[in-house]
Formats: sequence, C-alpha cells, structure tokens
Amino acid sequence: MGSHEGRTYVVTGAASGIGAATAAALAEAGARVIAADLEWDGAPPSSRVERVDLDVADHDAWVALAARLASEGDEPSVDGLVNAAGITRRARLHDATATDFAAAFAVNATGPALGIQALAPLMRDGASIVNVGSAAGTMAHYGIAYGASKWALRGITKTAAMQLGPRGIRVNLVSPGFIETPMTASAPAAFRDVNLAATPLGRTGTPADVAAVIAHLLSPDAAYVTGAEIAVDGGLTGHGGGLPIARALAGD
Ligand code: NAI
Repeated sequence: MGSHEGRTYVVTGAASGIGAATAAALAEAGARVIAADLEWDGAPPSSRVERVDLDVADHDAWVALAARLASEGDEPSVDGLVNAAGITRRARLHDATATDFAAAFAVNATGPALGIQALAPLMRDGASIVNVGSAAGTMAHYGIAYGASKWALRGITKTAAMQLGPRGIRVNLVSPGFIETPMTASAPAAFRDVNLAATPLGRTGTPADVAAVIAHLLSPDAAYVTGAEIAVDGGLTGHGGGLPIARALAGD
C-alpha cells in the first residue's frame, strides 16, 4: 500500500467489517481517519482513528461533520471519503415492503450521496472518494431492496465522478463479493456455500482484501482512475455464469 501520510480520510461504517478494516489500514499507512458509525464496541485500533457518531442517512449530521472539519486550521482539507456503511435487506420480490426499500436506499444510496455532497466542498485536487457497492449491484440479487440500492449506488458514483472530475476529485466504486463480516455471518449458511462454489479463487474474501483496494483507489497511485467499478470478489462476477458450465464440461 502506498503512503497515506499526512492525509485525512472520512470512513463510514468504520465500527465493523470492511469499514473497520479500511480505517485500520489507512491509519497504519499514516493517515488521520475520521471513523463514522452509529455505535462502537471496544477501543479504536490506533490513535490516528477518531470516532464520530454519525447516521449516514441524516443530512444534518453530515452538515455538522463538515462544519467541524471546516473549522480546523487555516486550510482545512479532506483528502478522501469511503462510504462503507451499509445494511442488508433480504426480503424477496413477493415479501419486500416499502420500509425495506426506504431503509436500504437511505443507508446504501442516499447516505453516500449526502456524504459526498457535504464533504466535497472541503476536498482539493487529488482527493478521492470510494463507494462500497456490491456484486449484488451487478446482477440479479435475491434480496430485491438491497440489490436495487447497490445498483443505485453505481449511478451515484458515475454522476459524482462526472461532476467532481473538473475539480480533480476522483470517485470510484468497489464491488465486493462474499466477504467474511458480521453482515454475511447473519446470512443463511447456504448463502456462503453457494457463493463459495461460484467463486473461481475458491475462498471467501476478508475485509482486508477490500481495504487494500480501497486504499489504492484513495492514493495518488490511482490518479487517473475515476468513474470505475472494481470487483473485489474472487472472480464471482467475472465468469458471468460460465463457471458451472466449464466445470461440468471438464468433469470437475
Ligand atoms: P458490517 O455489518 O460488518 O458493517 C457495516 C457497518 O455499517 C456497521 O458498523 C453498521 O453499524 C454501519 N452502519 C449501518 N447503518 C449505518 C448508518 N445509517 N450510519 C452509519 N453507519 C451505519 O458490514 P460489512 O460486510 O462490513 O459491509 C460494509 C459494506 O460492504 C456495506 O455497504 C455492504 O453492503 C458492503 N458489502 C459487503 C459484502 C460482504 O460480503 N460482507 C459484500 C458486498 C458488499
């Protein structure tokens, strides 16, 4: 991972899973991390990680965080934002309620947009935003509200990349496959088994697998990458359904 010394990042969903691993990796690489989440357990991983209670779906909370950061020093600057907070909704087509859709969209799509809106004014040329999408946002997903909210986040990412590009601010999306976190631990065992069987690398992912790609996208090493979608899924979506066919024909 490149150096993140002297840079300030805001990471949402930083109390758990992918967000927590990202906050820890960035702090390890020398960054100051404003770690945002609803609630906390245990101690921060590093003195470089500052915790803030923030509901990503709350516009006023974002405005307050931006005002606090803007009041720091003569030339306040946020070098990046990682929108990792997310909630799942597993109801399928026939059972999903309007409440499921409202909750999934508020946290997984509107939340990242509100964060970008609030913090982009504090960003300078070279800043970078990473949204955490999902493989579920690239294909049909059994949980309709969750999947649709992640498809929406792809659109938000593209629009933000277009509108912030002239200011030198990059916006990208990572789309994880099955990552071992509290979110997936709460899924039925079959979900893990089937994902594993459909993943060419033959293992599930770790939060650190995703954090490393996010850190790369935040760094100047990715200076010409914007509006991109990077799958971090062990090949789950790359084969497009070809894997079981190839295995059957090969007799694997
Ligand atoms: P997780 O459940 O371990 O962590 C999510 C964090 O987001 C929690 O700490 C939670 O408190 C926080 N959060 C939820 N609602 C919030 C709100 N309104 N405001 C602030 N924070 C809030 O989940 P995980 O697995 O680390 O997920 C991180 C992101 O990665 C999510 O956007 C998820 O949809 C996405 N993702 C995860 C995959 C996986 O296999 N674990 C696969 C694809 C995408």
